[in-house]
Parts: sequence; C-alpha cells; structure tokens
Amino acid sequence: MKFLMFSATSRVLFYHVLCLVLVTSVVSNNPARAASPQAEFSRQGMVASRSGWASQVGADILAKGGNAVDAAVAVGFALAVTYPSAGNLGGGGFMVIRLADGRLITNDHREKAPLAADKDMYLDAEGEIVEGLSTRSHLAVGVPGTVAGLLDVLAAYGTLPRAQVIQPAIDLAQRGIILDRDLAQQFQRRLKDFAAYASSMAVFSRDGQAWRQGERFKQPDLAATLKRIKKYGKAGFYGGKTADLLVAEMTANGGLITHEDLLAYESKWRKPVTGTYRGHTIVSMPPPSSGGVLLVQMLNMLETLDLGTMGYGSAASIHAMVEAQRRAYADRAEYLGDPDFYPVPVARLISKTYAAQRYADFDPQRAGVSSVVKPGKIPLESMETTHASVMDAAGNAVAYTSTLNLSYGSKIVAGGTGFLLNNEMDDFSSKENVPNFYGLLGRRANAIEPGKRMLSSMTPTIVLKGDQPLLVTGSPGGSTIITTTLQIILNVIDHGMTLNDAVASPRFHHQWQPDRIVHETYAFSPDTRAVLHRMGHQQLFTIPAFLGRGIGDANSVLRTKEGIFGMSDPRNAGRAVGVPVTP
Ligand code: DON
Repeated sequence: MKFLMFSATSRVLFYHVLCLVLVTSVVSNNPARAASPQAEFSRQGMVASRSGWASQVGADILAKGGNAVDAAVAVGFALAVTYPSAGNLGGGGFMVIRLADGRLITNDHREKAPLAADKDMYLDAEGEIVEGLSTRSHLAVGVPGTVAGLLDVLAAYGTLPRAQVIQPAIDLAQRGIILDRDLAQQFQRRLKDFAAYASSMAVFSRDGQAWRQGERFKQPDLAATLKRIKKYGKAGFYGGKTADLLVAEMTANGGLITHEDLLAYESKWRKPVTGTYRGHTIVSMPPPSSGGVLLVQMLNMLETLDLGTMGYGSAASIHAMVEAQRRAYADRAEYLGDPDFYPVPVARLISKTYAAQRYADFDPQRAGVSSVVKPGKIPLESMETTHASVMDAAGNAVAYTSTLNLSYGSKIVAGGTGFLLNNEMDDFSSKENVPNFYGLLGRRANAIEPGKRMLSSMTPTIVLKGDQPLLVTGSPGGSTIITTTLQIILNVIDHGMTLNDAVASPRFHHQWQPDRIVHETYAFSPDTRAVLHRMGHQQLFTIPAFLGRGIGDANSVLRTKEGIFGMSDPRNAGRAVGVPVTP
C-alpha cells in the first residue's frame, strides 16, 4: 500500500506487489457490489477463513465433536499448508477465545527478537536504515511462535488429541492439493522472489517453473515437519531435527536465531483488552498487539456520536471515524510496544474518560491536521497475515489472526523444513520516527531489544451481546487491520447490516501519518468526496483499480437468533464452511 508510505521508492514498489498478492486473490471482486454474496449458514458451527481447504478442516473437526478451539488450532495448522503466504509454522499470531462458560482468554504467540538482536541492527555506519535488511534477509526473521501457541491453546482448552488436530494438515501437505487459480497465480508472481533461495524454489517451483493451476502441489518436507510436531509436540519444532535445520539455515546465511532462542520461546496467556460499545462487550487482543487498545479507544470516541443516524457512507460519519483513527494511531506510535519491556498504559488508553479528553477537540465540520495532532498526554501509571473466525454450537468462539508479516514473509524456506520464515522484525521501529513497511511510526516503546516482541496491529476480536458471542472478526492488512475491524463492528452495531453486507461494504483507512484517507474504489460518492474536501480532508487516495481489490480480508462469523452465519471476505478467494446438520 504505497499510499501509506512516506519513503523510499523500492519499499513503495514492494508494497504494490504486497497489495497484489497479500490481501488478494485472482478474482477481481468489486467490494462495492450492491448485493453482496450470501453468507454461509449453519446452526451447528462455522469456520470462515482465507482458504476453503482450511475452513473445511475446521468444520470437519466441529462435526466430529471437537470444540471451536480444536477447530481453530486445526485451521491454523491447515493454513500453514494451504495458504502459505500467511498461514505458517515459521511466524506468529494471536488467538482470542471466549469459552461457553464465559471465560475470556488470549494467547500471544508473537515472534520475538533473537537474543543477539540489537537496537541498531538495521542501520548503517551513518545511522541510516539499510533498505531490505528488516524484510528480505535472514536478519529479518523473528523467533517463530505459532507452533508453541497453537499447541498450548490446544492443551489448555481443546478437547481432541494433538494427533487428530494436526493430521488433516499432514494429509494436505503429503497428498497435496490441486492448485486453484488463486494460489497458482500467487506462486507465479512470487517466483522471482523465491529464486533467491534454493530452499524456497524447492518448495514453490517445479524444475524452476511456478506450479500451475490444476497441478497437484505436494509439500513432503512440510509434512515431515508436521509429523515431528504431531509426535513430539513443541519439542518437534523447537528441538530435534526441525530446530537443527532452522538453526543451520540461520548459521549458513548470517541469521541470528540459535537453539537457545528456540528453547527459550514461550507463548503467553494475556488478559484480553475489553471495552463496551452501545451495550455490547468488545473482547480483543492486548499488547504486544496495538489492535485491541486502538479498537476500544476508537469505539469509545465514536460512542459519543450517533453514527447510525448519520448513515453509512455519509461524509459526517466518515469524518468522525477518520478523526478517531487519527488520534488513536498517534497514540500507537508513542505508547504501544511489548508490555514485558515497556510500561504500556493500557488502562488509561482504553478508558472512556481518556477518549472524551482525546476527542474533545473533534470539530464535526473541520478535519484535524496530523502534524498538529500529537499523541495524547497520558499520565503514565507511576511511572500476509490471515484471519479465521470460528464458532461452535455450544457458544465457544475463537478469533485467530496469524502472520509471516509480508506476503510469504522473508520468502525464505528454512532448508529441509518445508516452511517459510517470517520477516516480522520489520514491525519493530528500526529507527525513531522512520516509517516501517506499513508507514507506521514508532519510538522507544517499540525499539528492538533482545527477546522482545515487535508491536503488531493484528486485532482478533469477539463481540458479545449480553453474555453470548455475537460476532467474531479480524483481518490482515498491516496498519489497516484495526480500522477494518472497527468498520465491521460499526457496520453490524450502528448500521444494522447483515454479515454479508458488513464484510463486503467498502472500507477506508487513516493512520495519523501520512495524513491522508486511503479508500476502496467506490467507497466515497463524488458528493461525499466534495464534502470531505470542504471539511479539510485534502488527501483522499483511491486504491488504484488495477489492484482490483481492497483493504483487508475480514473472514467473520455472526450469531443471530436464526443461527450462525459465516462470511469469507468477497475481496478474496476464501470460504466459510458451516457444519452440516446431523441427520
Ligand atoms: O503484526 C502486524 O501488524 C503485521 N505484521 C501484519 C501484517 C499483515 O497484516 C500483512 N497482511 N496484509
């Protein structure tokens, strides 16, 4: 998304490619369709993800009596096989869980900086950022967390044995999948990136050519890695042959990850960020994600206005949302980071009092100016991502977002393991006030430190109505994840949309800096644009038509009195699969 960027041309170009592939499919869907595709429906349980194969795996697990946690973990492993641009073993993610008994849980399996990482590791002798080092090199790789997280969650809240939950992913890798147009085109576009690494070409090409649509794509090394995880659990990834292969890849190519890093990795249970919005409870991911905090902060600001009466797509409501986004993202740059390393003032940031102060200068007629809007004053307390949503009939709900960071991560397959390595290190602030790939700024709170988790925007979220789960949602899209999630929630709560309309409707995004609104084609009518211009929103950036798609990929599930609806984002080639009614 070049439109989020300030800087270097090569990053801009890279971002174009990212947009084409990451939040993408081959089918060019116009997100502003008048009638959005129908949602899937079931009373027995639902899985919505970016991959039909993975959704099917999850729905099968539910049908066999597994709960939503079993299904989400199975989907996580399956996505590593069938959606390799973002599904992963070599990356990280966050899971937000609401159990049928009402307990609210989050698991953080975000990658960590290796122990040998250094604050200035991406700077040259003059203190300037070395282009590509934090995205396209073995130094870009954070210590992977996905396997620890998925297995910890399964052991704590799943009901099925590890072997049963991992086996579908092993089958998909071993027997292979018949490549659809979506994946085949992704591989074709990525071939030149993979060409830099023999280990990546060994997986994603056949005799130097990209795999083609209709061919059977098998991943024997990945199947072997999954079998080691099935047999030995976490030790099958963080120890033994898998760890040896990963460390050998690092040692041979100037990477930093050691056996010590792998053995030290632990997923973390964290208290969810919760808030309220017009009588609903919002449950989302706390730091090291910025997602939950910003989401609740923006909802707190917007609750003071009547967005429903303003109307979906009105200049007034867009303006109000942009101004909430501007303020929240300014705070992100200053205050958000890994809470194990930096005292993130979560309670203050998500309080209604703070939102009222922060939004006090909101002018319904006039755009703010980001160079003037600074991070709020917080009295510090003394002191290609992919999203899947799952609900089962019993009332368990899981929101799961997982990532390698950019599409196909670092593009490096750890030789012999069959899995791609992340380039999550770019989510740190490599240098104060210099934007990262998503144009996001950061300072001390998100500086690189050994063993620290890099700040994320991933926002897996569950909305409760009364004490029942209403909506499970979230998205990929880097910095746009949080505003995509916000819009889905507002579409459901304020605008009373059905799930299909809530997910399909056009989106926009503002992130404080750069000071511009990015929006999908057709998101703003000409007269809405004119009103926004008059208010002072001078920079409106339409995502170019040639990109053919839009912001985010919000595979979501909604529960109504009728039953459970599932919707994969029509911008892409995902699928929602419901559990069939048992005869
Ligand atoms: O954690 C984050 O915020 C980013 N690494 C997410 C990357 C992403 O969403 C890419 N997908 N579009």
